[in-house]
Amino acid sequence: MIKINIAVFISGRGSNLQSIIDSTVEEDGSVNISLVISNRQDAYGLQRASKAGIEYCVIKPADFSSSQEYEVEMLSELQKRDIELVALAGFMRLLSPYFLAEFPGKVMNIHPSLLPSFRGLDAQQQALDYGVKVSGCTVHFVDEGMDTGPIILQKAVSVYDDDNKESLAARILKEEHKIYPAAIKLYARGKLQLAGRKVIKKNQ
Ligand code: GRF
Repeated sequence: MIKINIAVFISGRGSNLQSIIDSTVEEDGSVNISLVISNRQDAYGLQRASKAGIEYCVIKPADFSSSQEYEVEMLSELQKRDIELVALAGFMRLLSPYFLAEFPGKVMNIHPSLLPSFRGLDAQQQALDYGVKVSGCTVHFVDEGMDTGPIILQKAVSVYDDDNKESLAARILKEEHKIYPAAIKLYARGKLQLAGRKVIKKNQ
């Protein structure tokens, strides 16, 4: 099987990074996580990368005079390693059109709602405040908007009357850990095809 080199961008806990390590690297072998990039030194996900023997680096926007210079630095790290896919996993920054143009159709994100509902921050609280009975998570390709790109996979979960943000987030997170690795595996096997803003799963 051909392996693709991916980079995972994180800002914090890194539980999605862990699910990608566990299921695409260790179980499946279709993916090589060549690099983890964090914009924060204190991201717990860095310890997960280290434990798994994955190379990581911290690139902080504050160390650069502009966000373009910051992105140039990230891009140069990616280019050194022939990265074919960037997976955003709790990465708390928007990537600019300049960055995305270097990786067209090659950046994925996971979001804790059923998009297009509840884009942006605090999606689980937004869902509770709205009073929906079903929420969930979405893996999508990243475009220039916030959580607006073509949808790859989604999974719904129930919202219960006694849910709070933590209980709903935990129920959603369990599903995130399944659909993100699944989407990455589909990509690695060349099974995802973009038709306009629709992502079609190829059979062959
Ligand atoms: C997840 O809920 C993800 O959907 C959102 O940020 C959170 C990151 O969690 N984008 P983790 O760092 O992967 O544990």
